[in-house]
Amino acid sequence: MAQKNRINQAFFLTELEKLEQREIPVPEIKADEILVKMEAVGICGSDLHYYSHGKIGDFVVDFPFILGHECAGTIVETGAEVKNLAVGDRVALEPGVPCGHCEFCMSGKYNLCPDVKFFATPPYHGCLQNYVSHKASFAFKLPDHVSSTEGALAEPLAIGINAVQTGEVKLGDTVVIFGAGCIGLVSLLSAKASGATDVIVIDVVDKRLDVANSMGATTINAARENVIDRVNELTRNKGARVVIDCAGNNITLAQTVQVAKAGGTIVWVGMATDEINGLELGPISAKELTIKSIFRYRNLYPTTIAAIADGKIDISGIISNKYKFEDTPQAYQETLKNVSNIVKSVIVFD
Ligand SMILES: NC(=O)c1ccc[n+]([C@@H]2O[C@H](COP(=O)([O-])OP(=O)(O)OC[C@H]3O[C@@H](n4cnc5c(N)ncnc54)[C@H](O)[C@@H]3O)[C@@H](O)[C@H]2O)c1
Ligand SMILES: [Zn+2]
Ligand SMILES: [Zn+2]
Repeated sequence: MAQKNRINQAFFLTELEKLEQREIPVPEIKADEILVKMEAVGICGSDLHYYSHGKIGDFVVDFPFILGHECAGTIVETGAEVKNLAVGDRVALEPGVPCGHCEFCMSGKYNLCPDVKFFATPPYHGCLQNYVSHKASFAFKLPDHVSSTEGALAEPLAIGINAVQTGEVKLGDTVVIFGAGCIGLVSLLSAKASGATDVIVIDVVDKRLDVANSMGATTINAARENVIDRVNELTRNKGARVVIDCAGNNITLAQTVQVAKAGGTIVWVGMATDEINGLELGPISAKELTIKSIFRYRNLYPTTIAAIADGKIDISGIISNKYKFEDTPQAYQETLKNVSNIVKSVIVFD
């Protein structure tokens, strides 16, 4: 139950680039929820995007709308079923509460839940208000020596850690990161903490590159330098084993391929709104897709032959035409010209 002396002020986005403070009721909590007095709320790129554009992709703001999803504060009330947290605990709130029973939730990939209620993602209001109710299982207690401001930044940092874990960054790796915004920088910190020795960060803004540099990165300013040449120089023409895009435009996405070492891993974190020849880039990140590529094969002949040998695969069905060796010119000519009827030609020796 909300106490009488609590006043909840919220900032509403009432139209593009206009925020208005309004008093709203203190939220009531359910049995599995906590009421948190907000102490820190980050401003994220997505908040800024809603602020200036009113939408991100299919998510369109219905004004008035409360922004903010990176947050931490102190618990002032707990629901009857909440056992793991108590009044007075400082917590960071994981902003997305998933449905808990769809196939994605059930398989543990709850970040892909189509029914997730995520702060400041329409139609759900954000946490830029004094009091927020939240499911207790998505609140994480902060140790005393971790400030609430640091707690709020757990949200973007979790993205950096996900990027680095997805790229399987390990001891001694060289990592290239495009973008030195918040997401690029948290990826840099995560890569360093995971043991990467050389992290190269690329941006077009000197101030941001200075921050990356102070965090141990070698930096490249793409506005002044040739990115590919510089990465080659820094990696002795090898490229980086892990490349993380945190800039999200079609220039940097194209460059991720160019600076990657053979056999390397590219992680696209940036939500590109561009498309390249009809290939929409945004959904690749939004769907957390794993796109893999292959080059020929290795160690697969034994498996291949075994599959043919025990009849698991009937490869002979592929062959549409057989030619004698002496008829090779005809075989080539027909195979070239008669694509609609010839699937696969084989020249068979006597
Ligand atoms: N996949 C996810 O879960 C997830 C989560 C959060 C943010 N994002 C996305 O990550 C991206 C980065 O987020 P942010 O908050 O750090 O944004 P940001 O805008 O602060 O940072 C992007 C940086 O890229 C730089 N940049 C632009 N063009 C460049 C170029 N040609 N070469 C190198 N750098 C260039 C910009 O100067 C900027 O510093 C955004 O696209 C955002 O939508 C994805
Ligand atoms: Zn954020
Ligand atoms: Zn779900």
